[in-house]
Amino acid sequence: MRKEIPLKGRSWSELEPEMETMTAGDIDWRHGRSPMYVFYTTDEVYDVARNAYMKYFTENGLGNAKAFIGIGQMEREVIEMGLSLFNAPENATGSMTTGGTESLLLAIKSCRDWTRANRPSVVKPNIVAPMSTHPAFDKAADLMDLEIRRVPLRPDHRADAKAMDAAIDDQTMMIVGAAPCFPHGVIDPIEELSEVAVKRDLWLHVDACVGGYISPFAKRLGYDIPVFDFSLPGVRSISADLHKFGHCPKPASTVFYRDTSYHDFQKFDHAEWSGGRMITQTYVGTRPGGAIAAAWAVMNNLGIEGYEEIASRMLKMAHQYKDDINAIDGLKVVGDPHITIVAYESVDPAVDIAQVAESMRSKGWLIGMSRLPVAIITMMSLLHEPVRAEYIADLKDSVDSVRATGNKAAGSSVNTNYS
Ligand SMILES: Cc1ncc(COP(=O)(O)O)c(C=O)c1O
Repeated sequence: MRKEIPLKGRSWSELEPEMETMTAGDIDWRHGRSPMYVFYTTDEVYDVARNAYMKYFTENGLGNAKAFIGIGQMEREVIEMGLSLFNAPENATGSMTTGGTESLLLAIKSCRDWTRANRPSVVKPNIVAPMSTHPAFDKAADLMDLEIRRVPLRPDHRADAKAMDAAIDDQTMMIVGAAPCFPHGVIDPIEELSEVAVKRDLWLHVDACVGGYISPFAKRLGYDIPVFDFSLPGVRSISADLHKFGHCPKPASTVFYRDTSYHDFQKFDHAEWSGGRMITQTYVGTRPGGAIAAAWAVMNNLGIEGYEEIASRMLKMAHQYKDDINAIDGLKVVGDPHITIVAYESVDPAVDIAQVAESMRSKGWLIGMSRLPVAIITMMSLLHEPVRAEYIADLKDSVDSVRATGNKAAGSSVNTNYS
């Protein structure tokens, strides 16, 4: 029978245990069992984020210009901190959004509308992107009737700038690179893509949704992080998620533009209806004031030093995982991941990676998978630090048992869903 709103309400003391029962079977993310979705940092950061979020839980980012001036100021400061981090020029600007997908939708909408205004010969716009580009681009294409041209990667799983150059035509409005891409955790050669963008006078968007708020700190620590920000002249927009490695609560992301004139095309402005004129900078209307306040608080709580300390621990952990995985006979890390996304595949025909995934699932680990190549992916946060030995032991055991029971790859189906 379909559930109805109960006639009589119940108190929190009754509801809380019922909700706990409902979620009891959910993935045990607190003990590192989830390969993505959750990014826990430290108890201190968690407390700061929760306190700030709950303090401004009721405020609405939609009213930042008129009603919640203080939340509006926090939002502007979050944007400015991001612009500084990405070496943006003086006239650059940006917006806070509800996530990577919204940031990408907005960058693409701004580019489309800028293209309409400045390149009228583009009537059927396309975006040239590496094969590893996040499906949020396809969502944007679906919404805005655009074409996405996915271009095969180089053998090191990074974007192939030459092949992308060759895929561009007179209807191309944007080219894309990731820093890093989701499936392999590698940063595309943005410097080369920037040269293509400058040569062709095209809009280059850098999808730094995952890596934006960790890569600059890893670079400062001496890790080999390719340049991907506004210091490259071809980069016109960057998306970077606060709710991933910015260590801020969901929903929070940022999108930045080299010049305010690009950002102007992001705005939605409508007066032709019964209500008053509606102007919004982003796609959504109501936005959680708590998420804006929490982002401001976390960034100020951590500071550069805090972000560096976390990046140091995370990168060290990721390198240990990579070494441990490569040391398991039959497994190999895909490419050379730059931050903490690690994908690994089987290099032994007797070891079906899909069966290894099944075995890991039966041991309580949620498993994310990629298709090209078929590999297991983990996007690690500090939650994965204390469980490394356990994970690696279970992985080794899974590989051994799959090898021992023979390769049944023909019958196995690879579940690559991560929705
Ligand atoms: C590279 C990349 N871009 C965009 C996104 C979309 O972000 P969100 O899930 O916050 O919308 C993701 C999500 O993992 C991602 O990895």
